[in-house]
Amino acid sequence: DWTMENFVDQEVEKIRAKVGDKKVLCALSGGVDSSVVAALIHKAIGDQLTCIFVDHGLLRKNEGDIVMETFRDGFHMNIIRVDAQDRFLSKLRGVADPEQKRKIIGNEFIYVFDDEADKLKDIDYLAQGTLYTDIVESGTETAQTIKSHHNVGGLPENMQFELLEPLNTLFKDEVRELGIELGVPEEIVWRQPFPGPGLGIRVLGEVTEEKVEIVRKSDAILREEIKLAGLERDIWQYFTVLPDIRSVGVMGDTRTYDYTIGIRAVTSIDGMTSDWARIPWDVLEKISTRIVNEVDHINRVVYDVTSKPPATIEWE
Ligand code: XMP
Repeated sequence: DWTMENFVDQEVEKIRAKVGDKKVLCALSGGVDSSVVAALIHKAIGDQLTCIFVDHGLLRKNEGDIVMETFRDGFHMNIIRVDAQDRFLSKLRGVADPEQKRKIIGNEFIYVFDDEADKLKDIDYLAQGTLYTDIVESGTETAQTIKSHHNVGGLPENMQFELLEPLNTLFKDEVRELGIELGVPEEIVWRQPFPGPGLGIRVLGEVTEEKVEIVRKSDAILREEIKLAGLERDIWQYFTVLPDIRSVGVMGDTRTYDYTIGIRAVTSIDGMTSDWARIPWDVLEKISTRIVNEVDHINRVVYDVTSKPPATIEWE
């Protein structure tokens, strides 16, 4: 009988048999796949697992703290948080091209991870949250190559570890079910897709700390209001972007000349195509008002009403 409970028992046995008394390393990003793989392996081998969580400073509001609270305080995992914001920001300085930004962030992620892994001794295995669909799709990537999807949290290619990929027979919905079975919080299990380069590709053009903070604050407001409106599960992805333009506005009797926030919200089955989400106007109004009132340097909010294709989900 195939049940999730049996699957967990079987996988735990398999992992124990394979790993023995050796040690396992896992790159934890706080995304669904890496979170569930870490929880599963931790259940099997406990302290023989060490996770490295690279915070590149391009995460959403509170995201890093939630990862630590969940896995260090909740699961009692060995987890090393690397606060690498300065490293990433300095590498990104002066760079405006989206693909170059992706490459820099992806590479820097590997260097930071490498540096941490080097400090650990006697690691034999690297755990990865590879899904069945990742294996199937990697043979036939088509639209994906329009943007290089460096999955930050992925495998540094030059590493000398043996791979542990216990999710590689599962589909996404099964991984979510497994996560729930293992006690991973719903907040993580049902998290919307979030790109590896994070807010780095939602600040259009050159990334600065100030601009990242503008996106982070406006994104937090958007997510709060979507949740309040009960729309979380109906929308595939919803986030804000900061285009590199300023426009004229008026505040009291003063003229302003400040940034615009773009709201992107789409429905989709798999991210390959998407439609813009029909968020009720009163919800949009509340989001817009809050963003202009609460986020410095924003005097205008626009809503993206393009499908994919011809647009993509992200703006970069
Ligand atoms: P686009 O923008 O190509 O996005 O329509 C499709 C899906 O992929 C995500 N995305 C990325 N994910 N690294 C990632 O890990 C990336 O560089 C990247 N770019 C886009 C996007 O959020 C959407 O879910």
